[in-house]
Amino acid sequence: MSYNLLKGKRGIIFGALDENSIAWKTAERVHEEGGTFVLTNAPIAMRMGQIDALAKKTNSEIIPADATDLDDLENLVQKSMEILGGKLDFVLHSIGMSVNVRKGRHYTDQKYDWTTKGWDVSAVSFHKVCQTIFKADAMNEWGSIVALTYMAAQRTFPDYNDMADNKAYLESIARSFGYFFGKEKKVRVNTISQSPTPTTAGKGVKGFDGFINYAEKMSPLGNASAQDCADYTVSLFSDLTRKVTMQNLFHDGGFSNTGVSQEVVEEFSED
Ligand SMILES: NC(=O)c1ccc[n+]([C@@H]2O[C@H](COP(=O)([O-])OP(=O)(O)OC[C@H]3O[C@@H](n4cnc5c(N)ncnc54)[C@H](O)[C@@H]3O)[C@@H](O)[C@H]2O)c1
Repeated sequence: MSYNLLKGKRGIIFGALDENSIAWKTAERVHEEGGTFVLTNAPIAMRMGQIDALAKKTNSEIIPADATDLDDLENLVQKSMEILGGKLDFVLHSIGMSVNVRKGRHYTDQKYDWTTKGWDVSAVSFHKVCQTIFKADAMNEWGSIVALTYMAAQRTFPDYNDMADNKAYLESIARSFGYFFGKEKKVRVNTISQSPTPTTAGKGVKGFDGFINYAEKMSPLGNASAQDCADYTVSLFSDLTRKVTMQNLFHDGGFSNTGVSQEVVEEFSED
């Protein structure tokens, strides 16, 4: 169902790799709601993914950009405004990668070059995106910037490894930049803390199957899917949430506030 919530709004969507990606589902949903946007991803991901199909489906153009590269970001922001015909109203940062996770290095045995790389891609890139947009004065007033995060920033999930630290840093950037964006540009900045979701990034975390099933049993409403996340993101891009900023918003079916569920108690009961 479409409510035309984003009619006339323009934006940039980072991170659609394949049809499972949270950014992919969000792009489809934003398109349904009348928003127009430029799709972007790292050049290497573009060769591996299927982003062309998404661009066709949503009538959008693609501009490659490594989100850690300031020249790429400046080019992306300028070209996007030209293509879309004006300043931006929404931006989705849906980017994450840990080299330590990818290469199976334990949290207590990190290779720090890899730690730094993952931190740059997963956390500092959000600052770079915000700063590039801020300096170019590229957002309209009452625009909305959203990044995706995970609850391992607050509570420990051993296999989430150094991504937990990256997410804590990412959430802090949303608060810090949210202050300046609010004061000077009337733009809001938030993070969505999403349930485990079966995507390329999600499934790359060791023990993901156990993890997602446990979360499903612990969440009164069940896990939030990528599609659910797309709906929630649309609401944050819309004019209906104009005073929500500098927040980390849990989108997890209630998982984060559940101590234990009946299903989990039964699993551990001896009789
Ligand atoms: N899947 C989950 O369980 C889950 C849960 C909570 C939060 N998240 C977060 O959601 C976001 C999206 O991930 P997803 O689950 O849709 O997986 P995904 O693998 O589909 O998306 C991750 C994206 O990051 C992009 N990326 C990596 N390095 C980049 C770079 N240098 N420049 C630009 N883009 C780059 C990848 O190409 C890919 O498109 C991430 O921030 C992730 O941490 C995921």
